[in-house]
Amino acid sequence: METLDAITKRRAVRTYTDQPVEDATLDELLRVALAAPTGSGAQAWSLLVVRDPERRRAIAELVIAGAAHYFTLMRPPAEGATPTEHARWAGEYAETTLGSYRLVPVWILGLVVPRHRYPASMRDLEQIDETVSLAFAMENLFVAARSLGLGTVPTTAFQHFEKNQLRTIVDLPDEVDPLIITPVGVPPAFPEGLPPAIKRIRRPWRSLVHDDAWGNTRDS
Ligand SMILES: Cc1cc2nc3c(=O)[nH]c(=O)nc-3n(C[C@H](O)[C@H](O)[C@H](O)COP(=O)(O)O)c2cc1C
Repeated sequence: METLDAITKRRAVRTYTDQPVEDATLDELLRVALAAPTGSGAQAWSLLVVRDPERRRAIAELVIAGAAHYFTLMRPPAEGATPTEHARWAGEYAETTLGSYRLVPVWILGLVVPRHRYPASMRDLEQIDETVSLAFAMENLFVAARSLGLGTVPTTAFQHFEKNQLRTIVDLPDEVDPLIITPVGVPPAFPEGLPPAIKRIRRPWRSLVHDDAWGNTRDS
């Protein structure tokens, strides 16, 4: 698939089959992910590939549980629903939307691994550079995956709810930060567009582009 097509056709994929991903394909994804730009050349990152069945099952359970928490907090309760009923709905919704995460053959964890190359007085900039660089690497991975017929979805909801459990599953030392994770697998089909709730709030790209000075947007 052409690069521009892979960029525009990449979608957050939340339904997967159990079809395996070839080792060579996975290597290609990892290689191009880590070809991303990296602040001060520090490569303050690692990708942790989880294929072990027990560990990937544990990650899937954790992400589904994190999503249930997220939906409990972010979605309004149905009229008259008690907090317990609302939480039950959120759990069922997470199960319906993400249950196939249990089938996914691979999870990739995007990790910040601080290299401490900047002076202490510039630690704030270093942290920004670490985060941005890892995000570039993950986007490379998402786009490359799409071009190879594989689905991914940037996932951070666990951060707020289950991060320490994730650390335990893959034996992460304290200084290594799992910033963003993704399943990697073959979807039954790629989503064609955005889900209605996201589509409704989507701003047209021209409204987000300002020419020469703030306020002069392409749609004004
Ligand atoms: C920083 C970031 C965090 C995200 N976290 C989650 C997440 O925890 N769970 C999830 O299902 N999707 C997550 N997403 C996916 C977004 O919901 C999705 O990208 C957005 O709705 C647009 O859809 P698209 O990716 O198909 O263009 C995240 C995306 C980004 C960029």
